[in-house]
Amino acid sequence: MIFTALLSAMLNIIPAPVDYTVGQGVCAEEKVTVQNYGSAFKRAAAKLEDFQKKEAYRLTIDGRGIKIEALTKEGVFRARTTLEQLKACSGELPCCVIFDYPRFRHRGLMLDESRSFKGVEFIKKQIDAMALLKLNVLHLHLDDSAGWRIESEAYPNLTGMTAWRHGWDYFAWERGGYKFAAPGEPGAAGGFYSKAELKDIVAYASERYITVIPEIEMPGHSMEVGYAYPGVLCVHPNGKVHRGAWDLCPGSEATFTLLEAVLDEVMDIFPSKFIHIGGDEATMKTWRECINCQKRMEQEGYTDVKQLQGYLVRRIEAFVRSRGRRVIGWDEILETGVPKDAVIQSWRGISGGIKASQAGHDVVMSPSTHCYFNYYQDLIRKEPAACGELVSLRFAYGYEPVTDDMAAGRILGVQANLWCEYIPTPSHAEYMLYPRLFALAETAWTPAEEKEYFGFRKRARSLLDVFRSRGYNTFDMDTESDLARSGKQRFPSK
Ligand code: ACM
Ligand code: ZN
Repeated sequence: MIFTALLSAMLNIIPAPVDYTVGQGVCAEEKVTVQNYGSAFKRAAAKLEDFQKKEAYRLTIDGRGIKIEALTKEGVFRARTTLEQLKACSGELPCCVIFDYPRFRHRGLMLDESRSFKGVEFIKKQIDAMALLKLNVLHLHLDDSAGWRIESEAYPNLTGMTAWRHGWDYFAWERGGYKFAAPGEPGAAGGFYSKAELKDIVAYASERYITVIPEIEMPGHSMEVGYAYPGVLCVHPNGKVHRGAWDLCPGSEATFTLLEAVLDEVMDIFPSKFIHIGGDEATMKTWRECINCQKRMEQEGYTDVKQLQGYLVRRIEAFVRSRGRRVIGWDEILETGVPKDAVIQSWRGISGGIKASQAGHDVVMSPSTHCYFNYYQDLIRKEPAACGELVSLRFAYGYEPVTDDMAAGRILGVQANLWCEYIPTPSHAEYMLYPRLFALAETAWTPAEEKEYFGFRKRARSLLDVFRSRGYNTFDMDTESDLARSGKQRFPSK
């Protein structure tokens, strides 16, 4: 227990292990012995859930050397990660015995590649960081109105017409009237991932026991798709296509033909069981008057355009399920009806997570209040422009994903999201992630009753130095304001 450990010494590692004791002295011997498992470890691991067993390990460091016990290669990998962090953060290996396993099975980070395209090198660097923090899910937001980032052979205009734009900076692009550019055109900014690059990312992540979940947004946040293929747009009764619309047309069969073809390509690249279909913030504006939407509503007996969102989500969910995968979507998809197999990602606070878990859906918790690391991490006057409220390190650390009114067994885990409207460069993205991702990692792995902020803060400072030495750009904890340090969420009202 950490309580026991506090009486002796704390291990300098994030996430804090479940159970450990620290002995006297350090280990000079670097030799690592890996055992399938000893009987004491086997007995302790038998009590765990299957997903925990897979990652569980026992690490014994004493004067004679280092011993790892685990049931799987993944368990050995987690133990080696602990060793790597101990050595990097402490400069030596303290004699100790650690028994460790994760609290949650889904420990994620989402990167928004549409608003700012950051490239393979950046993604792999963040995968390295995730592995060091024992995170295991990388969610890639691969398309949005600001640009399509994944090669499609079936629909080549998606990248050909929208992967580049005039304005690297999202708001410069917005101010300039949302103008896309042709590849190679003067001033064109952006890019996309080829299938080969994405397969390489998937393999790189898999070697580190990280699953990559791709997201293809629908039906909102999809202006770029309509720009490349206007057949997916709503049609006014006067015959004019709604150019520039934010939403895809759920009345048009062309929408489903495109989405299904693209999803087949996506599932070919990504072996992930979960395929993210977005589903958030559809405006539904053009659906009210579109001739195809109105026809669909009549055929289905709908009385409200909102039901069209449910139609699209259910049809796509059935398609994805027919391919042996499971849909995951933002919490809006719960409102218009979706089968239980769909996983709900709660982002508009925690109410989506409560309702979804009670209704029998599996849930990933990423409420914007605590898990949106594109929000400010300190005072507006000292930080680069960001959005939302204050999510300081302490506030982020205080997040508890499971509340009394949730069906706890349905909560798969937690995820940090990094939306990139305000984050134009890779180094800015790292600045927003570190150290807040350390907090998320500890929430995701360490039992709630073992978490303690001030000990964590000390370890975070130490790990932040390691990150800097490895070339990550980070927030400077030494400059944190009193407000951020206090762990309050709200900026003072003016
Ligand atoms: C979201 O932040 N719109 C999921
Ligand atoms: Zn329509």
